[in-house]
Order: sequence, then C-alpha cells, then structure tokens
Amino acid sequence: MSVREILKMGDPRLLRQAEPVTRFGTRDLQALIEDMFDTMHAASGAGLAAPQIGVNLQLVIFGFKANTRYPDAPPVPETVLINPVLTPLSDETSDDWEGCLSVPGLRGMVPRWTALHYEGADQHGNPISRDVDGFHARVVQHECDHLAGILYPMRIKDFSKFGYTAILFPELDANSDD
Ligand code: NI
Repeated sequence: MSVREILKMGDPRLLRQAEPVTRFGTRDLQALIEDMFDTMHAASGAGLAAPQIGVNLQLVIFGFKANTRYPDAPPVPETVLINPVLTPLSDETSDDWEGCLSVPGLRGMVPRWTALHYEGADQHGNPISRDVDGFHARVVQHECDHLAGILYPMRIKDFSKFGYTAILFPELDANSDD
C-alpha cells in the first residue's frame, strides 16, 4: 500500500479514454485499489479515478463520512466502481462548486445531472446498481468524466465562477491545497 503521485492538468495521460477492466478479484487489482484509497485519503479527496495516478483503466473510487474539502457535503458511501455506465434520471441539471486533485488550488461552478442511475462492478465483479442524486450524483459524474479524459474545467459554462479556493472559500482548511 502506498500513496501514489497524482497527475496534474496538462499531463496528456489525463486526456485518454480509459480501457475496461477485464479481470476481477486479482491481487494486482486489489493492490491498485488500496493505493488509490491511500492516495485519496492522503489528499483528503472525495474521489479518485485510476487515470489520475496514470493507470488507464475504467476504475474510480469515492466516498467519505465527512470531508474537509467539502464540509457541507452529506456522507457518500465508500465505493469501488469499475466499468461504470451512467444514465440521467431526468433532464434536470444542478450547478455547484467542484474541485479536483488534478487541478489543485482551484474551484469552479459545474453543471451536472441532478439525479442519475449508475451501474458497474466492484473489484470482485459483483454488480453495482444505484439511483442517486445531489452530491453523490455529482461525485460519480466527476470521477467517471476522468475515464473519458474530461476534467471539470472543460465543463464550466460561466468562467466568472472559476477561481482560487483560498480566495473563494477562505474558511476551508488552509492545509488543503486543492
Ligand atoms: Ni477530479
């Protein structure tokens, strides 16, 4: 188990289409997921996608009970989601602030589907199928965007709502750099 380097915006490896996971329940997959959780927790992240540590697989993790980077966010169950497919439950979208461990120090206002269905598999190949909304839905969309080479600034519509976290949210933990 180890904390891995998180790639930052500008690295072309963040712009790739990720490949499906084809083998489940392997030691390599388990070790990768443990490294991802170590890396996410070390950075106080709400989620992390495998491409962010340079692994071009359709694998994301997310979830927390409380998060210093998003102190108002409700808990999201700790989840390993592989080969995900997202389907919106309506046309409704919501705007809210997002950050990204690959875009440190910045936040932007991003429109996302308000409610969605997602499915995929866990690390053992067991199916996952959930209907979610709110912050949970936002986190899933943000992380799964990484699997298509999309970073949240590419989704910002109003660039007057894009700026430095320390300026926009000075009350947030000063040790949080992202
Ligand atoms: Ni991100």
